[in-house]
Amino acid sequence: MRIPESVINEITERLSLVDIVGSYVRLERRGNRYWGLCPFHSEKTPSFTLLPDQKGYHCFGCQKGGSVFSFVQEIENLSFPEAVELLAEKAGVEIPRTADTGEDRVRAAMTELYNRVAGSFHYILLNNDNAATALEYLERRGIDSEAIKDFQLGFAPADRYWLHGFLLSKNYSKEFLAESGLFSKRYPNVTLFSNRIMFPIKNLRGAAVAFGGRILSGDGPKYINSPDTRIFSKSRNLYGLYNSLPDLRKSRKFIIVEGYLDVIAFHRAGIKHCVAPLGTALTEYQVDILKRYASEGLLVFDGDEAGLKATERGLSVCEKGGIDCNVIALPDARDPAEIVEKDGPEALKNLLKYPINGFTFIVENAKQGTDVSKASGKEKVVRHIVPFLSEVQSEVRKEAYIHEIADALQVEPESVQRDITRLREGNYSRNSNVDDSKTVRLTPDLYLMLAVAANSHLFKVVRGKIKREDLEGEDARALYISLEEAYRSEENSLDAILGRIESEAIKQTLMERKASGEFSENIEEVIRDAVSRIRERVMRTKRNVLQQKIRVLEKDGGSATDVRKLLEEKMFLDKELEKIRGRNV
Ligand code: CTP
Ligand code: MN
Repeated sequence: MRIPESVINEITERLSLVDIVGSYVRLERRGNRYWGLCPFHSEKTPSFTLLPDQKGYHCFGCQKGGSVFSFVQEIENLSFPEAVELLAEKAGVEIPRTADTGEDRVRAAMTELYNRVAGSFHYILLNNDNAATALEYLERRGIDSEAIKDFQLGFAPADRYWLHGFLLSKNYSKEFLAESGLFSKRYPNVTLFSNRIMFPIKNLRGAAVAFGGRILSGDGPKYINSPDTRIFSKSRNLYGLYNSLPDLRKSRKFIIVEGYLDVIAFHRAGIKHCVAPLGTALTEYQVDILKRYASEGLLVFDGDEAGLKATERGLSVCEKGGIDCNVIALPDARDPAEIVEKDGPEALKNLLKYPINGFTFIVENAKQGTDVSKASGKEKVVRHIVPFLSEVQSEVRKEAYIHEIADALQVEPESVQRDITRLREGNYSRNSNVDDSKTVRLTPDLYLMLAVAANSHLFKVVRGKIKREDLEGEDARALYISLEEAYRSEENSLDAILGRIESEAIKQTLMERKASGEFSENIEEVIRDAVSRIRERVMRTKRNVLQQKIRVLEKDGGSATDVRKLLEEKMFLDKELEKIRGRNV
């Protein structure tokens, strides 16, 4: 896109540099100049200055200076055309689109489509009688009308044909809708999103570019997420980013949580620099985006096994991006949404008071269940830490980390260093304790998903029996989502599935094992067994939770009907468990 000189001049004329800069930097007027703390380097006394009647700024500290465009480019990390676009919007100046490429036009049209749909879903949630249960559900989850508005939450009607008809009546062409990512590939007039609470995913400029749709009740995947399109990539966007921008900039910190509802819970608690990845593990691209605004992060994940893994991975990705991260491990495997719901926003804020340093967190994890007074225990800790250390980009930081481990293990830093080098070169015999994020740890759940990925026609049956949440381990869950996406797009080829897998290590493992023929013999039986084992585990957990509840109720003198209801539920689970066990022997 070429931008005419006249447009640049008009934007410069119409905008006040003081206003624009002032929205990022606190400016103070002294004499005829404005002064503030430079946003481009860290300082304690202001050396960043501008003159109101001139069109430029300058920092005497770091020597940065330029126009309103270069300021926005630098602070928002945008290209020149992007900065012009952003400022043109603010100034109310139209950029002539004549030089637009076809691609630009299609992208703009698609963004417009998503915004229209987001607007419609939002309207329906607030006004349509059929959305009453959705609205009640949100209320029950502690999401008030302000949050609904801020996040433009919506409701997709149950009628799976409605959206297509509605959009045709707005003059969108069938061809355009077919590639919008809103409809089934095989049945182009059937939408992917029906009878779901809709979470629009917004780009940096606040435009909706994708959706996550949460089920209210009944069968089906808990979330359906938009596929990648020409305007959306799930590894390069973050949920809640747009709403977080002002506070990200102000605090120069970010918080990463697991789910959409967790992001909203944080914002509701007044903590508004909180984002979530989009159903997958945190990616390098996502960290790169956050780095534009913040220099320090906090990871808040469930305290369960899956959460622990996700945290360690998140820490590695942030470390690779050179971002310092702290960790909050939530108690009792509860998520932030649940904490705000049950105990209120203050409870969440209180939990944030005690962050653990990311590296300390990893070391502590490594030490869990290990006797570090023994030589083998020390070695195990070092092994656990190697994957993280290999992401450390700066030698100085690496040395600091090594000293910390050496202290924790009461050994010499030099021996730690030598072990790390040796482990990295692979001179060590591997043992099963190695937890290397670069190699795949083959849990039974992951094995099942790999087997299904290699025989994708069987996913149809599997998804009817187990949900993503039933799986343990992030890799297994991520693979489930890739399969779910491929399934919904009716693309069952191995290529289509590989294309949806984020992790190189998983891709590699899948290809190797498939090629070796491992997943072709007796496969239906293997899968059936694995599925029922997982179902048994899930039910057993549920049953134990129920049992616990019943005990508490009985002790606290809960109402007889409540106890009876729980007992009935438990009996039902007992019967189901019996059935599964009967089949397993
Ligand atoms: N997720 C997904 N697909 C699923 C399940 C989950 O993409 N089938 C993603 C969503 O981004 C979701 C996040 O993983 O927000 C966390 O999952 P979960 O905790 O199960 O969902 P929540 O949104 O937190 O809902 P809740 O905890 O209230 O059930
Ligand atoms: Mn959750």
